[in-house]
Amino acid sequence: MRKTKCFENNRSIVDLFNIFEQLMKKEEEVALHCYRTALIAGEISFMLTKNKKFSDKVFMSGLLHDIGKLETPKEILKSTGKLSNSERIQVQKHPVDGALIAQKSGVTDGLILGVIFTHHKRFDMTGYPCDAQPQKLASSIISVCDAFDAMCYSRPYAKPKSVPEAGREISNGSGTQFHPKIAKHFLNFVSSCENDEFQQNFYENYAWERPKVVVLC
Ligand SMILES: [Fe+2]
Ligand SMILES: [Fe+2]
Repeated sequence: MRKTKCFENNRSIVDLFNIFEQLMKKEEEVALHCYRTALIAGEISFMLTKNKKFSDKVFMSGLLHDIGKLETPKEILKSTGKLSNSERIQVQKHPVDGALIAQKSGVTDGLILGVIFTHHKRFDMTGYPCDAQPQKLASSIISVCDAFDAMCYSRPYAKPKSVPEAGREISNGSGTQFHPKIAKHFLNFVSSCENDEFQQNFYENYAWERPKVVVLC
């Protein structure tokens, strides 16, 4: 089995999937959202950089980006109403909690930990955690894919958007929420979805086959 250097003592990639499995057991909808986000982000990363090692790491960081939601109370994750201030603060802890969970589980890779910690930091430096550094490339990619997936699937507090609607939101957020270069690349990817098998599957998954799962961004 392929080994990665994302862990101390050369532990195998299986350990990373063990962390993801915990999320799958406790918060399946969140885990499925992470998986879809990872799939798109890995693909976008490779198209953008042609770097397999980098895109593999982006994929792995996508799998774990919301791992901190293991610490978020279930009733808050499932809430359909407007969150109170204290509930919102609890939700906004998930990047910090996630980085701690990953570190305790043996993840030492800076790219993966950075994505978990900064995936809600926006391009304009708002977002959270407020003391996080600007996003690096991997985190900028995850941010766009994360938002897109969350918009396209059912959430307790919002109806799913169609692919074109979600694309428009990404476009509107370019330069404020999202890195403009990544947003542009992502939109090019979405608009050329009839060219190859992966993109066809991607488009079909998002446009016409929406599993009735509840997902939180
Ligand atoms: Fe998140
Ligand atoms: Fe997410």
